[in-house]
Amino acid sequence: MKKKLILDVDTGTDDAVAIMLAALHEDLDLVGVTTVNGNAEVEYCTENTLRVLDYIGESSIPVFEGLDKPIAREDFPVPRRQDDLLEKIHGKFLDLPEATSRKQDTSAVEYLIETYRAATDPITLVPVAPLSNIAAAIRLEPKLIKLIPEVVIMGGAHYTGNVTPSAEFNIWADPEAAAVVFNAGFEKITMVPLDATHKALVTAGDCEAFEALGTPAGKAMSIVTGHRIGVHDKIQRMDIERSAPVHDALCVAHLIDPSVITTGDYRVDVDTANGLCVGRTVIDVRERSGKEPNCKVAFDADARKFVSIMMETFAKNRLTAEA
Ligand code: RIB
Ligand code: CA
Repeated sequence: MKKKLILDVDTGTDDAVAIMLAALHEDLDLVGVTTVNGNAEVEYCTENTLRVLDYIGESSIPVFEGLDKPIAREDFPVPRRQDDLLEKIHGKFLDLPEATSRKQDTSAVEYLIETYRAATDPITLVPVAPLSNIAAAIRLEPKLIKLIPEVVIMGGAHYTGNVTPSAEFNIWADPEAAAVVFNAGFEKITMVPLDATHKALVTAGDCEAFEALGTPAGKAMSIVTGHRIGVHDKIQRMDIERSAPVHDALCVAHLIDPSVITTGDYRVDVDTANGLCVGRTVIDVRERSGKEPNCKVAFDADARKFVSIMMETFAKNRLTAEA
């Protein structure tokens, strides 16, 4: 049986790859996509999500728009650096044709609550964006904590942040929401932080191979990841020249082949104070907290396995590209 999942996204160049992998892999059933404020205002994230699904011929997958701001910080200060990074790595609109399909009338939070209340099969929840929708849904309907069998989160960092020296963007953008999720008591949380995604780099050479597939997914992968590589080379160079992390897609690859990442059981807490470390995931790697682990954290990833999973999947997207 295919593994069912819901993606929660702030599309976003790497969210786009996660959506394509989840929509196209034969072992997965992407039942719905929810959008949230993050890389851009939520309306842009929704449009971009629809653009990706239209482009790969998967417009039947429903898209539900969610929260347009964090759950607690109305006027969360957005440092110049963060703006600079997001605007460059993602921009407002993906470089794909304008969407022809439309979002659903139901809001993302209502969709999450209704879907899990009615679910008869397990549906993995994969948030790869600020956790505002997820926190709002479980606050409104605490039963979801038991109804959601697994949460795979792209977020957090131990060694270094990306939006600040200490914090990764998804957690930093709504720290209170992240604290709600990590403390909720879910049966299974897998956290995929920058420590793993920065080891699963996609290179410019890979992008040429994706382009050469001649499929919409291969072309879109080359467009969005080529853009990411250009920006990373300028303002956040990776260990491998002309490469970039594709953070969100690594969470989906993990559902296809769990061995693409290496995890350990750790206690993770989120700093919601207003200091230097706001939004930091404090990962208790030396068991100093005296608290039980609350999630599996990935500290390593297999880049070549990651790329080959995407290459094999995108090669099969044989629709004729409109563009
Ligand atoms: O820090 C990386 C994360 O922030 C990714 O999910 C990216 O899409 C942005 O949301
Ligand atoms: Ca994202």
